[in-house]
Amino acid sequence: MRLIIYTGKGGVGKTSTSAATAYRLAELGYKTILMSTDSAHSLGDSLDVKLGTTITHVRENLDALEIDIIHEMRTKWNDIQNYVSAFMLSQGMGDISAEEMAILPGMEMIAALFYVNQFEENGMYDVVVMDTAPTGETLRLLSFPDVTNWYLDKGFSVLKRLMKIAKLTVGKLMDMPLPSDEVLDSVEDIKDNMGRVKEILEDPKRTTVRLVMNPEKMVIRETMRAYTYLSLYNKNVEAIVVNRVLPPEAGESDFLKDKYKEQEENMELIHNAFDPMEIKTCMMMRTELRGEEKLREMASMIYGEDDPMRIYSDASPMSFHTDDRYHYLQMRMPFVDSSEVELFRIDPITLMVHVGSQKRNLQLPDVLAHAEISGAEFKDNKLIIRFKRESQ
Ligand SMILES: Nc1ncnc2c1ncn2[C@@H]1O[C@H](COP(=O)(O)OP(=O)(O)OP(=O)(O)O)[C@@H](O)[C@H]1O
Ligand SMILES: [Mg+2]
Repeated sequence: MRLIIYTGKGGVGKTSTSAATAYRLAELGYKTILMSTDSAHSLGDSLDVKLGTTITHVRENLDALEIDIIHEMRTKWNDIQNYVSAFMLSQGMGDISAEEMAILPGMEMIAALFYVNQFEENGMYDVVVMDTAPTGETLRLLSFPDVTNWYLDKGFSVLKRLMKIAKLTVGKLMDMPLPSDEVLDSVEDIKDNMGRVKEILEDPKRTTVRLVMNPEKMVIRETMRAYTYLSLYNKNVEAIVVNRVLPPEAGESDFLKDKYKEQEENMELIHNAFDPMEIKTCMMMRTELRGEEKLREMASMIYGEDDPMRIYSDASPMSFHTDDRYHYLQMRMPFVDSSEVELFRIDPITLMVHVGSQKRNLQLPDVLAHAEISGAEFKDNKLIIRFKRESQ
């Protein structure tokens, strides 16, 4: 099963592009589901179909789902929610409702990723097209498998400690609810789920990210940054969709010619920054972009005759190789200079990579667990970390 994630800054055309792509895929005969993790849903508007809290059948080969996190909390995470609620009460804090827990950041993405796992297991679909919330948030959430595991491990070890104390002092801590087996099972389930999700997300042949942007300077800069961060999280960014490009006639119009010229210059900036990545374009449409016919037109502009299932590049952002002196860990790290990157060895198998405001804990392969870092350098938009081989 393929997972294609469309992301980008607010209002650039992610939802429309996702919907147009899903339509094309369904028409080509792929069993497709279009899913949105943006709580400000607009998928239904774009498709011109009413969507509910569960999977809606849109047309042959096409289903759609806008994640409704309150519904998900109630139906899937009831045990945990009840426990957190009981725990808060026992601590003299107010109760917490499903609605309140649902506003914790990232919940839509977690729920969506759980669906991805489920679809991968039951083989219902050939492809999941994911429409996301504007970049900043989504970037953080795409790293969620890392973050969640850390969070759960912490929470889990606190729970285990509490249980030990409770066992030693039976009767003295009666006002503290202990997590039931169901809650502990749920936590284990979430961890298992996240582990599998991470595998899917970091497999460059299954999951790819496509950045949607407009030919505007600010947007270009933000998109470059998004590309850097997605690479840090080992996501395969393989194509760009430049949306709302003015048609050549605009160059002749008094009203639009300055804007047209500016866009032309910005297209050059985009090529300089992103070549040789696949860059697709979509013209600005004059009529409302909504419903089957318009989405089909959009898909033709973006893909021409291409099959959107195609993977334009399957090079993983991260790779590992060895020569007779060193092991090398190589990470695609476009648009940064060395002064922006910091490395910390947290423990033998964990390397923390800081880039700007983002940080990622990398689990090193066994062979590097005790290898000493002998240096790091930048080459061709890649960060190359050198580890001494043991015989050295
Ligand atoms: N090429 C285009 N021509 C004309 N209108 C467009 C085009 N692309 C998108 N639009 C319109 O612009 C608006 C925003 O597009 P869309 O909802 O797809 O963006 P988005 O990136 O998903 O926004 P958000 O960040 O708010 O989710 C919509 O009304 C859409 O119909
Ligand atoms: Mg949108």
